[in-house]
Amino acid sequence: MKIAHIIPTYNEKDNIGLMIGTIFRIGRKYRSWQNYVIVVDDQSPDGTSSIVKKYQQKNKNIFLLLKKKEGLGRALVTGYQFAVNKVKADVVIPNDADFQWDPEDYPKLVKKIGQGFDVVVASRHVAGSKVVGWNWFRKLNHDISNSLLAWLVAGVHEVRDHAGNFKAIRVKNCLDRIPLVKMKNAGFSFQLHILYELSKIGVKFTEVPVTFKERRLGVSKIGFNRYYIRDIFEYIKSSIIIRIDRSERFFKYGVVGIVGLILQTLLSKLLVSLNIEPFIAVSVGAEAAIASNFLMNNYWTFNKHVISGMELINKFIQFNAASIGAVIIQGIVVFFGTLIFGKKAWFWSMIFAVFFLVIPYSYFIYNRYIWKTHEH
Ligand code: GDD
Ligand code: MN
Repeated sequence: MKIAHIIPTYNEKDNIGLMIGTIFRIGRKYRSWQNYVIVVDDQSPDGTSSIVKKYQQKNKNIFLLLKKKEGLGRALVTGYQFAVNKVKADVVIPNDADFQWDPEDYPKLVKKIGQGFDVVVASRHVAGSKVVGWNWFRKLNHDISNSLLAWLVAGVHEVRDHAGNFKAIRVKNCLDRIPLVKMKNAGFSFQLHILYELSKIGVKFTEVPVTFKERRLGVSKIGFNRYYIRDIFEYIKSSIIIRIDRSERFFKYGVVGIVGLILQTLLSKLLVSLNIEPFIAVSVGAEAAIASNFLMNNYWTFNKHVISGMELINKFIQFNAASIGAVIIQGIVVFFGTLIFGKKAWFWSMIFAVFFLVIPYSYFIYNRYIWKTHEH
C-alpha cells in the first residue's frame, strides 16, 4: 500500500526535518506500507526547501514541490494532485509540519482505512479528543468556522471537526473522483471544501480522537495577519456556496427574508414618521413581512410542497400563530432598545432582532411545522 504524506510548509525549517524523519521511522514498522512524503513549499524565505533537499539525497521517496506564495489551500491542492496523479498513492495523508497533529497517530488513521472507511478525520471533537494551549482568540476562531459556519451554515454533518488538516483519504473510488482542478480555495476553507466534495459522492466517513498540541517550533501562519481577513471571508463564502449548492431552499428563504425586511423597514419608517410609537410601528411592519413571507415561501421557496385552498387559510392562521413569537421578539427588543439608547435606536434594534432572533426562529418553524420538509 502506497501512502502519500502531504506536508505544506511556509517557514518550517525547524520542524520539517524531524517531521520527515518521524514519518519514515513510524512507517518502517509496517512491512506492507510504502511511504512517500510530498513537501509543498511556497519558497519559504527561511530555507525550508534546502533542508528537504538534504533529506532527498538519502531517500528517493521524498518529493519537494516549490511554488510561489499562494496560501495553504493552493499548496494542498498541488500536493493532493501530485499524490493522486504522480505518486499514484492508495492513501493520502495531509499533515502540518509543526507537530500540532502528532504524526504518531497516522497508523491509527490508516488502520481505519483498512477497516473499510474512505475518509478518516483526526478530530478534536469526539470522545477522547483533547486540545492543548488554545487562547480565547484561537478558540473563538475555531468555534465560528467549525460549529457556526461548517456545521450550521454549510450543513456538513459527516464529521464534527472540519478545519483540521490531518486526515487519511482513500484514493481509489474516492479522492480520484473529486475534481481537484476546480478547487480554487486560497486559505484554510480548502479543508471544509474537500470534506464537502467527498460527502457529495457518498463515501464512508469516520473520526478518530487525537490530542491537538501546541506548535513545536516557529510561529503559526494562521492568525491575525494580512491573509487573515481574506481567509475568513473565503471561509464564509465557501460555507454559503456549499449551502446553496446543497439546497436552493435556504437561498430562496434568504431572498424572501430580505424582501420581507425591506417591506417591514419601509412600512415601519412610514409609521414612525407619522409619529406612531416605534415598537408599535415595528410590530405592524413585522406583520406585513409575515404575510409577504408566507405567500412568497408558499409559492416559491417551498414550491414542492405548495399549500392551496382552505388549507392555505388554515396554514396562514397557523403561520401567524407561530410568527407571533417573531412579532413579540421584535416588539420587546425595540421597546428596550429605544428605552436604553433613545428613540433613534429603533431601527438598529429591529435589524438586530430580525437577524439574530427572527431568522433562525422562523426557518426552524417553517421547516418543522408549516411546510414540513424533513431533509438536510
Ligand atoms: N505551502 C504553504 N503555503 N504552507 C502553508 C501556508 C502557505 O501559505 N500557510 C501555512 N502553511 C503550512 C504551515 O507551514 C504548517 O505546516 C501548516 O500549513 C499549518 O499552518 P500553521 O501556521 O501551523 O497554522 P495553524 O496551526 O494555525 O493551523 C491550524 O488551523 C488550521 C485551520 O483551522 C491547524 O489545525 C491546521 O491543520 C488547520 O488547517
Ligand atoms: Mn500549526
